[in-house]
Amino acid sequence: MSSKTYSIAAIPADGIGPEVIAAGITALNALADTLQTFKLEFTNYDWSSDTYKQTGKYIPDGGLDALKKHDAILFGAVGAPDVPDHVSLWGLRLAICQPFQQYANVRPTKIFRGTESPLRRCSTGDLDWVIVRENSEGEYAGQGGRSHRGKPWEIATETAIFSRHGVERIMRFAFETARKRPRKLLTVVTKSNAQRNGMVLWDEVAKDVSLEFPDVTVDKMLVDAMTARMVLKPETLDTIVASNLHADILSDLAAALAGSIGIAPTSNLDPTRENPSMFEPIHGSAFDITGLGVANPVATFWTAAEMLAWLGEEDASKQLLECVEKVCEQGVLTQDLGGKATTQQVTDAVVAEIRKLS
Ligand code: NAI
Ligand code: MG
Repeated sequence: MSSKTYSIAAIPADGIGPEVIAAGITALNALADTLQTFKLEFTNYDWSSDTYKQTGKYIPDGGLDALKKHDAILFGAVGAPDVPDHVSLWGLRLAICQPFQQYANVRPTKIFRGTESPLRRCSTGDLDWVIVRENSEGEYAGQGGRSHRGKPWEIATETAIFSRHGVERIMRFAFETARKRPRKLLTVVTKSNAQRNGMVLWDEVAKDVSLEFPDVTVDKMLVDAMTARMVLKPETLDTIVASNLHADILSDLAAALAGSIGIAPTSNLDPTRENPSMFEPIHGSAFDITGLGVANPVATFWTAAEMLAWLGEEDASKQLLECVEKVCEQGVLTQDLGGKATTQQVTDAVVAEIRKLS
């Protein structure tokens, strides 16, 4: 049987990034080897805060051209204690997302079998969401500036940018995502009472786009009330769309409500497929546990599954996630989920489940 070969760029970067990306590649290679339905070729890019400190650049000249040749990017985390966070974020992660127009950031969350939500009344199945985050403009457009630095009258502006084009394309993507899920329910989150320009545009565009999706039920929430609803009535939500900042915050809350930030994946998608999309765990470089071998690799396994689904390998994606869930059910959990297993032990257990697929 002929099988497709996918070329994957791996950027492990900082902190626990290299630990979880190594685990992810191990699992992906085991899956490809066991299923024999597709092949993967990894190219490692050692771009990190260390290279930044040595060379002044996160991405070397020509780096983006090299990345563009791959089918997908598997990213770890960026951030170091001795580099300001806005420098590392804009130097590496956003320096890829923005030129590659990865405008849709997709963050699924659910409670895995064998894990527990910190919410007392919430069990597996009650919380099963996909958060769609606008990933190219809004509050993180990078517009603004600082004047009179260091003076008592210093001013700084951080201007949120909302274009009709940008809002329309993320809204359409969110409706399409909702349509593909059984409940066909989309909650549009804004703050259009206080933010009376950009967020009102969101509401108007949501209404326009909804006419193209009569089969999707639309629901509107203000972001502050949304945090309460996520905690108190998680079962009433399914697909959620929000601006760059709002969805960033809501998705960290979502990950915590599902048990740990150590399980949650993110996809940075260019839905036009002109550029490769980038897949990463939600979490950061986690300085407090770097090098201890205890980082939870589950977020990266789920990330890898999302990457396979985007590449068209839906069956393999589902099988990988099922193997991960089985391992959680067996109680092989890292400390963030209340267990004692190491990164290596969880990875070995997932690989053992993958081998059973043959
Ligand atoms: P963080 O996600 O790195 O850590 C928050 C807490 O969650 C820590 O206690 C950490 O130990 C724990 N944690 C995170 N991932 C885990 C895993 N896989 N297994 C077990 N526990 C895990 O967020 P924090 O501390 O705010 O940021 C640290 C650095 O990471 C900063 O430089 C920040 O800018 C960067 N960062 C980078 C991101 C990215 O590359 N996409 C995303 C978030 C933060
Ligand atoms: Mg975040």
